[in-house]
Amino acid sequence: MSHIIAPSILSADFANLQRDVEMINSSSADWFHVDIMDGVFVPNISFGFPVIKAIKKHAKKPLDVHLMIVDPDRYTQTFKDAGADILTVHYEACPHLHRSIQNIKNCGMQAGVALNPHTSVHLLEDIIADIDLVCLMSVNPGFGGQKFIENTYAKVKQLKQMIISKNSKAKIEIDGGVDLNNYKKLLECGADVLVAGNTVFASKDPAATIKQLNTI
Ligand code: DX5
Ligand code: ZN
Repeated sequence: MSHIIAPSILSADFANLQRDVEMINSSSADWFHVDIMDGVFVPNISFGFPVIKAIKKHAKKPLDVHLMIVDPDRYTQTFKDAGADILTVHYEACPHLHRSIQNIKNCGMQAGVALNPHTSVHLLEDIIADIDLVCLMSVNPGFGGQKFIENTYAKVKQLKQMIISKNSKAKIEIDGGVDLNNYKKLLECGADVLVAGNTVFASKDPAATIKQLNTI
């Protein structure tokens, strides 16, 4: 299976959101990556349900919603109603992760777990068989356009081994600082999904940049 490209809406032009959504629709991207920040779990606030609904209205590809919020269980159904297809919660924000994952699946979404850069992939050993996606943060969450953390390569390799040994179907997603210089190495290490915000939206031709990220 070839890899998945998920441009991050956080770097889109919010005054021209429909234009940017349609650019992704007609590009070779696979998913929309939608970053939700609450100003508590991370030191930034992004946007909420009205914006997700507005994206969903025009999006022709799945919404991969990344929750950087505390107590995400409160809103599982509301995110489903707003249009999320994949819902990712942070390991660091979920004391009852197994329950959070089951809630997401019971609402009819795919379930993802995100790990901050300092969080070991081994902590997922007892839940990896139950999850659809692991989002490895390759920057500290909260902002687009940050520098890629090199230790991520080692984490991807460890996680890939664990997924194979536990017979899990989880996809490995890399989020933060993905660019045209590091994406191939990430794929070689075992990444399945590449999130890209700044690399796509700050480029002269975003659709062409998506196409490049699609090329092995
Ligand atoms: C960071 C977000 C990322 C961000 C990635 O907290 O989770 O999805 O949009 O942006 P880039 O690709 O610019 O690092
Ligand atoms: Zn994200």
